[in-house]
Amino acid sequence: MFQVKPMSVNDYEFATDLANTMNWNMAPEDFEFNRSLEPDGCSVALDDSTRIGIATCISFGQVGWFGNLIVEKEYRKHGVGGLLVKHAVNYLQNKGVTTIGLYANPGLQTFYGTLGFKLEMDFSVLSVETLDVTETEAGPENGVRHISEVEQFDRDYFGGERKRLLESIILEKGNLSYCAFDGKELEGYVAATVYEKMAWVGPLICQESKVDVATGLIQAVLRKLSGLSVYMVLPKKEKTLHEMLFDAGFDEEFSVSRMFLGPPVSKNCIYLAESLERG
Ligand SMILES: CC(C)(COP(=O)(O)OP(=O)(O)OC[C@H]1O[C@@H](n2cnc3c(N)ncnc32)[C@H](O)[C@@H]1OP(=O)(O)O)[C@@H](O)C(=O)NCCC(=O)NCCS
Repeated sequence: MFQVKPMSVNDYEFATDLANTMNWNMAPEDFEFNRSLEPDGCSVALDDSTRIGIATCISFGQVGWFGNLIVEKEYRKHGVGGLLVKHAVNYLQNKGVTTIGLYANPGLQTFYGTLGFKLEMDFSVLSVETLDVTETEAGPENGVRHISEVEQFDRDYFGGERKRLLESIILEKGNLSYCAFDGKELEGYVAATVYEKMAWVGPLICQESKVDVATGLIQAVLRKLSGLSVYMVLPKKEKTLHEMLFDAGFDEEFSVSRMFLGPPVSKNCIYLAESLERG
């Protein structure tokens, strides 16, 4: 009989090993980070006492996000994946979440569609193994100094409350953040998490028509990341940004589809994901 229980510290090694069978490049700290933001948001599926799958979710007020779904190969096609999704949906809805998002891997639109999720937009997962950019012009404004404006702006566009998540990225020493203003009006911001050998660029939110502003924000971050492997997740429709990134050496690793269960709550904007598992 399959069941789902909340993940504990003792499950991190199992979760990390299982996730990395998919080359997701995860560490126990990733689950710890998720649990620091959402203590009961990580789940383990069991067949009696045998651990056979994992998933994570997080709530941002009315918006929730689902991710890191994986089931042991020999247990697939027996309903365990569906059980983990339904468990998370139930958990998030009980917390007052009305709209749940996820990034579906290729081939999984029907799986999530059967569970009620609807396709919204396709994204590219972009990466460059070693970024080679020379530092030239001065960048836009530092995001740390404008953190409360960034949080308000993010709330307006994302539709959920990501204050704690944004602060854990923007205020962390070594990470990067920039924002762009037109007079006093915030037009966009970007943040990047910087590790020893790699960096993740996102979230970015920028007013819909301001591709030049988004370009400037991304370039400001990239100028600081030379020599690292760099990743980001960008909507396929952002052709100008794709061209700029291909010129900087990025390639598309694979595509994902953003899907939602529940009414849309975000405003149209230029968007880079914070991560695949948290939106
Ligand atoms: C995606 C994944 C988690 C699904 O897990 P799963 O346990 O196989 O999921 P389910 O059994 O609930 O559903 C899978 C399929 O089996 C079918 N199924 C479920 N129970 C079944 C049963 N008893 N007999 C036959 N088929 C069954 C479902 O209808 C579903 O069909 P679909 O693929 O046409 O939608 C699993 O394939 C996996 O770990 N993939 C690798 C990681 C990955 O890609 N994760 C997703 C990231 S977005």
